[in-house]
Amino acid sequence: MQRFRSMTLFAEWQDTVWAARNLAGSALEDWGLHALVDDVRLVVSELVGNVVQHAVPDDRLACPGAPRRIDVTLTMWPKWLFLGVADEDSSPPTFPLGESFSPELAHGLPEAVLPDSGRGLLIIHRLADALWWAPEESGGKTIFCRFDLGERCADGPA
Ligand SMILES: Nc1ncnc2c1ncn2[C@@H]1O[C@H](COP(=O)(O)OP(=O)(O)O)[C@@H](O)[C@H]1O
Ligand SMILES: [Mg+2]
Repeated sequence: MQRFRSMTLFAEWQDTVWAARNLAGSALEDWGLHALVDDVRLVVSELVGNVVQHAVPDDRLACPGAPRRIDVTLTMWPKWLFLGVADEDSSPPTFPLGESFSPELAHGLPEAVLPDSGRGLLIIHRLADALWWAPEESGGKTIFCRFDLGERCADGPA
């Protein structure tokens, strides 16, 4: 059994992050993955927000004045949920370089000691079971996350 949902959005649309978050939320609800809805909605918001904020299309994909394309895909397999967010910029995201302090210590740290930027991917790194990116042959890249559907979804898919 495999379930798939996708949506093409544009970074310049006002409701892009909202639409991506809702696509993810409704797909997960439909698939019975209620326990993952909040985490995946947050991850999608961060990834799509990053495209809006950071993506600069490659020269060969850029059309002056054209909106920047974003493709969001969700694929559910029996044991995993994969999320992909593709954009037209082939430069890599800056992934967190591992944990700079232990999770126990991080809990007790005031927010002020965490860096002002670079938190989005750090949060995703914590919420997802895997995070990676791959360049696309035609240009641009996709950032992927994998969520393991084990104990977190003990109620099981619908
Ligand atoms: N889709 C993207 N395209 C290009 N660069 C990206 C993308 N996503 C993230 N980045 C880069 O990775 C960095 C870290 O992202 P993030 O952890 O979300 O922090 P922030 O958005 O606060 O800078 C960004 O500052 C940016 O340089
Ligand atoms: Mg960000």
